Amino acid sequence: MTIVSGWIEIRATGPRASKDLATTLLIASGSPGVQEETVDTAAGTLVSHSLWEEETREDDEDTSPVRALKGYLPERDNAALATVKSGLEQIGWALETSFLKDTDWSEEWKKGLKPIKVRHRGFSLTVKPTWHKIKRSPGEIVINIDPGMAFGTGGHATTKMCLKSILTLVKGGKLPKGPSILDVGTGTGVLAIAAMKLGFKKAVGTDIDKVAVKVARKNADLNKTKLTLSAKDLSGIPGKYDLVAANILAGELKKLSAALYNKIKPGGFLILSGILETEKDSIESAFSSIGLEKAFLLTEKEWVAFAFRKQKA
Ligand SMILES: C[S@@+](CC[C@H](N)C(=O)[O-])C[C@H]1O[C@@H](n2cnc3c(N)ncnc32)[C@H](O)[C@@H]1O
Repeated sequence: MTIVSGWIEIRATGPRASKDLATTLLIASGSPGVQEETVDTAAGTLVSHSLWEEETREDDEDTSPVRALKGYLPERDNAALATVKSGLEQIGWALETSFLKDTDWSEEWKKGLKPIKVRHRGFSLTVKPTWHKIKRSPGEIVINIDPGMAFGTGGHATTKMCLKSILTLVKGGKLPKGPSILDVGTGTGVLAIAAMKLGFKKAVGTDIDKVAVKVARKNADLNKTKLTLSAKDLSGIPGKYDLVAANILAGELKKLSAALYNKIKPGGFLILSGILETEKDSIESAFSSIGLEKAFLLTEKEWVAFAFRKQKA
């Protein structure tokens, strides 16, 4: 992602059934966040909520069109805009664009972010934006995140399932003492930071986006955790890890399958997220065919996350 002074706001409308696909398309094309515009019927006003926050509204049975999704792309990124336009049109969505100054929206979308809590067998992990104050309960692990322009505030279903998977493996005694993690597509660094707070001894994060690496470094400092971060691709990352986590889109995960496999220690685990329910079978067969065994599967809304295990040597 390039640092720019101007942004294009995309206001997209379309069928509710493909809302998650439209959101994914905007984020995958470089929008740092997506907001849904709704109407507060009591107040008669327009409100926005970030789709990264934990959604409490149950809209599965609602068939009305989405009022609007708002995403943001760097002003000069014509290629990304063209991808978004054709992708949205293919799934029956219409869009309007307008120019914005960076400051107009970067503070605006942050307002929608709220702390989220992930629980497993009495253990809990809270991820909160730095500007939120919370009362910490005894034993609660709290991670502070300033997302800047990177993905990963904990609120998106794909991140939450990764956090839950890490918690499950750690608290279920499935990993050796003081394990290591490689977080591929680290974004804000949230998964690597969570792992360190859960007792990992070593955490390495990579991201193809240099801005994300900078943001992750800042978040590591903020949480007083030591992460090794880089924008190198997997072939440039030394060593093998007890746990490899990758929350990237399914197509990219498939392309990376052999490289991911090579980074797992014998007996170690691979967490994969960013997979739509409809892509579940093809991901399962791609990763089973390279010799990994499915350990468990989590689902949330249209998303699934896998934990696979590599055979012991
Ligand atoms: C959905 S975000 C996940 C962020 C964070 N790990 C989380 O779970 O919330 C995906 C991240 O993967 C990065 N990414 C995409 N393709 C990648 C690749 N081939 N190698 C490394 N990072 C990649 C993106 O830049 C983005 O920061």
